[in-house]
Amino acid sequence: MASSSTNIDLSEPSFCVVSGASQGIGRAIAVEIAKCLGPDSLMLLLARNNEELAVTAGLCESENVKVVCNAVDLSTATEELMMDILQGAISGRQVDEFAHALIFHNVGSLGNLAIETSRMENIQELRKYYDLNVFKVISLNTQFLKLFEEFEEKVIIVNITSLCAIKPMGGMAYYCSGKAAREMYFRVLAEEKKQIKVLNYSPGPVETAMIDNVLEEAINENLRDVFTSFRNQGTLLKPEITAKKCVKVLLSGKFSPGEHVDYFDDE
Ligand SMILES: NC(=O)c1ccc[n+]([C@@H]2O[C@H](COP(=O)([O-])OP(=O)(O)OC[C@H]3O[C@@H](n4cnc5c(N)ncnc54)[C@H](OP(=O)(O)O)[C@@H]3O)[C@@H](O)[C@H]2O)c1
Repeated sequence: MASSSTNIDLSEPSFCVVSGASQGIGRAIAVEIAKCLGPDSLMLLLARNNEELAVTAGLCESENVKVVCNAVDLSTATEELMMDILQGAISGRQVDEFAHALIFHNVGSLGNLAIETSRMENIQELRKYYDLNVFKVISLNTQFLKLFEEFEEKVIIVNITSLCAIKPMGGMAYYCSGKAAREMYFRVLAEEKKQIKVLNYSPGPVETAMIDNVLEEAINENLRDVFTSFRNQGTLLKPEITAKKCVKVLLSGKFSPGEHVDYFDDE
């Protein structure tokens, strides 16, 4: 891990958005970051499942932190809707009241694991995958930046990436190519905007619904074997453990702009 700048101190009021916060890693990150937020902080949790978002909200709310949920399909949300959701969450307050503006782009899906890479031709399906995992992540990020455009030095962005963004994994062409594109977008942004803190955090193999889906859907034998052995050997991480590491890395400030930091990297 590159060593750079100073610790991030969130003890003043912060605005914090977490996408994909209804379960898994997103829920765990929301809970972990909520503990660090100072008085008069506000969180906005996004995903489709309202009931599960409410569960996450209940785990995050405290004397310091108010939580707003919005059940939105981020694969189809227009840019106008995204801006309305962000502004709606803040309504009654001014953006300059917040000392920090954080966004965790955690939302993600696996794509089609039942097609060989050499046979991919369903562009409509691929486009839908890219809508959720790449294009709409970029446009949500852009709406967030527009909202805080006069206060860019307050902005902190965490993209939840994967080893698959930098290392090919047979049977996961949708996922690997999407993660690579998404990570590179955030790296380019970090290159251009040195005043914004950008971290690409790779959580390691984590016990969530996503792992169940790999085992149910993958046709690539090696992929199935890798994930079966993760499960059988008990090497899958708990969401809470990797979420703690993510927040620790973030608050340490010890990462270069847009750096890919993995759960297993040395501290
Ligand atoms: N699990 C792992 O081993 C692992 C490893 C490396 C990286 N990651 C990354 O970590 C992130 C979280 O993964 P996870 O394992 O926690 O997955 P998960 O349990 O499947 O959670 C995915 C989250 O995304 C939300 N979501 C999915 N489609 C959505 C849509 N159309 N609109 C809005 N929200 C949507 C889901 O909520 P709703 O269904 O309520 O919408 C859910 O909250 C992903 O970016 C993933 O690629 C995971």
